[in-house]
Amino acid sequence: MREFIYFSSTAPTTGNFSTNLKEAGRIDIACHFLINAFFVSHAIRPDVKVHLIFYGKPDPPKHLEISINEKNKKFFSKKDVSGFIRRMLYKYKKGCKNEVFDSCFIEKKSFLEVIEELRKQGKQIYLLDPKGENIKQTKLEKDCVFIFGDHEGLPPKEIKKIKKIAKKISLGKITYFASQALTILQYELDSRF
Ligand SMILES: C[S@@+](CC[C@H](N)C(=O)[O-])C[C@H]1O[C@@H](n2cnc3c(N)ncnc32)[C@H](O)[C@@H]1O
Repeated sequence: MREFIYFSSTAPTTGNFSTNLKEAGRIDIACHFLINAFFVSHAIRPDVKVHLIFYGKPDPPKHLEISINEKNKKFFSKKDVSGFIRRMLYKYKKGCKNEVFDSCFIEKKSFLEVIEELRKQGKQIYLLDPKGENIKQTKLEKDCVFIFGDHEGLPPKEIKKIKKIAKKISLGKITYFASQALTILQYELDSRF
């Protein structure tokens, strides 16, 4: 299982965000990220889980854990990914990890708590960072976790803590969009496993 964490400091944390994507805390980046995580031409990747972690207004943080499969794919339209996220955000229930669609959950959990939980499960964790070790020289496990920042990267306070448990890996000197970096990483993983 490949797990991808996408952190957004601005993506909205309730379902009633503006339908004008320009006013919706760059939720468009999270939408592109989800499409590139799960879809290839005419197929869904079966071995992927995405963790979206949103810190925008009005009720941060929110952790959306998403897997797309045969049971829930009818709820996920590539033409309206923000609608899927909106429905998940609307179904947030205080004090629990709510399963909104099969294998898709929402809860209140911080970025560092999510990472710590995955580390405790024994997962190898990598932080995508242009200043890290070049991926071509990095030995990767088949089942591991990759962390991506948003258009502003990751907050320095969090990076300091993550650096203690995650290995920094780089895709080269060009800074890509998070969704582009994800596609390049998937290509690299596809060629190895
Ligand atoms: C648009 S970039 C962030 C740019 C932001 N201004 C910064 O300096 O971090 C979004 C995310 O994609 C990933 N990324 C982009 N280019 C990368 C590269 N060459 N190597 C590794 N990760 C990359 C990183 O996780 C980054 O936080």
